[in-house]
Amino acid sequence: MKIMYVGHSALYFEGETKILIDPFITGNPWVKGKHYDFSPDYIFISHGHGDHVGDAVDFAKRNGATIIAPYELAIWCSWQDVLTHPMHIGGKFRFPFGWVKLVNAIHGSGHITKHEIHYLGHPCGFLWETEGKRFYYAGDTALTLDMKLLEDYSIDYAFLPIGGNFTMDVDDAVKAAEMIRPKHVIPIHYNTFEVIEASPEDFVKKINDRGMEGLYVKPGEEIEL
Ligand code: NI
Ligand code: MN
Repeated sequence: MKIMYVGHSALYFEGETKILIDPFITGNPWVKGKHYDFSPDYIFISHGHGDHVGDAVDFAKRNGATIIAPYELAIWCSWQDVLTHPMHIGGKFRFPFGWVKLVNAIHGSGHITKHEIHYLGHPCGFLWETEGKRFYYAGDTALTLDMKLLEDYSIDYAFLPIGGNFTMDVDDAVKAAEMIRPKHVIPIHYNTFEVIEASPEDFVKKINDRGMEGLYVKPGEEIEL
């Protein structure tokens, strides 16, 4: 399986099943000049903010992909004529590629257009298992003690925001990793905008110092599992 970090919070998992997460492509400064021809089977969306919903509906339409998201957000997507599978926090479901569970994220989830905010429910993180590996994608979230519950899942790869301002910063994300104890930790949601400046090198070093493996995957890079 290959994982590409597009940049910001967008990731593409290319295994037997292809999963695209929070596909912010149009307008994403990390994407400038690149063309990503993703063909997802499933698209996970963590919350309604523009830098996460991104091009999800376009990809879903083009590929006939199914969007997996918290209920209100999934219903809102379904109004745009795409396939959806609504779930909610604490719920787990077995898909053909493996199981997915929605977990808590402390954040907002309104979709904002000019002078209007559409309420789209509660934001989430994703916990899932596929091809014998377990993943946790935190989405946008504050540090929360709920993360301690994830330790029992023996997570192989955790994706944590480190940019601060809207989410955890480096030090909070390190505390999160200490609670979750995943084998590998990959930083996301940093340096896209001025207010979320952070050092992925510093984060990875702090993770390694604590006996986990921090992986600095640069935007546009792929790792092979
Ligand atoms: Ni957000
Ligand atoms: Mn965000």
